[in-house]
Amino acid sequence: MNRGPWIFLGVLAALAMSFFGLVLLPQLDLGRLVEAKAMGSDDLYPLARPGLAAQGAEVYRANGCVVCHSQQVRPTPADLERYGKRRSVAPDYLFDQPAQLGRQRIGPDLANIASRNRGAEWQLQHLYAPRSVVPGSTMPPFPYLFQVRKLDGGLPSPEAVKLPGTYAAPFGSEVVPTRAAVALVAYLDSLKSDSVSLFEAPLPAPTTNALTAVLTTNVSPPGLTNAAASAANAPAR
Ligand code: HEC
Repeated sequence: MNRGPWIFLGVLAALAMSFFGLVLLPQLDLGRLVEAKAMGSDDLYPLARPGLAAQGAEVYRANGCVVCHSQQVRPTPADLERYGKRRSVAPDYLFDQPAQLGRQRIGPDLANIASRNRGAEWQLQHLYAPRSVVPGSTMPPFPYLFQVRKLDGGLPSPEAVKLPGTYAAPFGSEVVPTRAAVALVAYLDSLKSDSVSLFEAPLPAPTTNALTAVLTTNVSPPGLTNAAASAANAPAR
């Protein structure tokens, strides 16, 4: 029997189904996403990143930060407690090309790093020498995003990064961020999707009820050992 036509039809059906599932459905679902009004306000969301932050997104991409950091708050209690007040949804990435969601978490999720208010100075110190601000950090340093400059007897420039003890620049020199480092920090400072409430992912209402306040307060159960407590504080994978 000639099976040719059946094989042909089978292959056609497999291709048509994958086109339908992988291309057509997502396109119908997300293809026409546009800026929309945030819940309870007239502001449009999301806004395109300002120029310097947009350049920083490229620095983030070029340095492989996405290999260790996700930018995606999952709707799980652990994620909502640590990384953002609401889950991440498609509109959050509307202007990101490519969207840097990440696939693994060697370090913490950065979807809302700006909401954690570390400050620009901290971010620069951390990029130059992570252990100068987070003892025992396993994040690699990015010293090539900085320039070590001779002071030539003058005063340190205002943009010089203040570094503690052993991390400080050799005597008579200073560590200054390059434009790439400044852009990268501007990008990190633009990552705060959980400051806006969306129809598909509303921010939780502030707790006014005394009982819920008590129920949601994080009290460690008696007998929680230090090891268990630090395991509970480790980044969720
Ligand atoms: C090899 C993995 C790895 C790479 C690559 C990496 N990081 Fe990290 N990052 C970590 C780890 C682990 C931590 C947690 C320890 C710490 O805070 O230093 C962290 C922490 C951070 C934090 C602090 C998060 C918080 O909640 O306090 C920021 C910001 C950050 N990284 C930004 C970056 C940027 C920007 C890049 C790219 C230039 C980058 N990381 C590349 C592993 C990595």
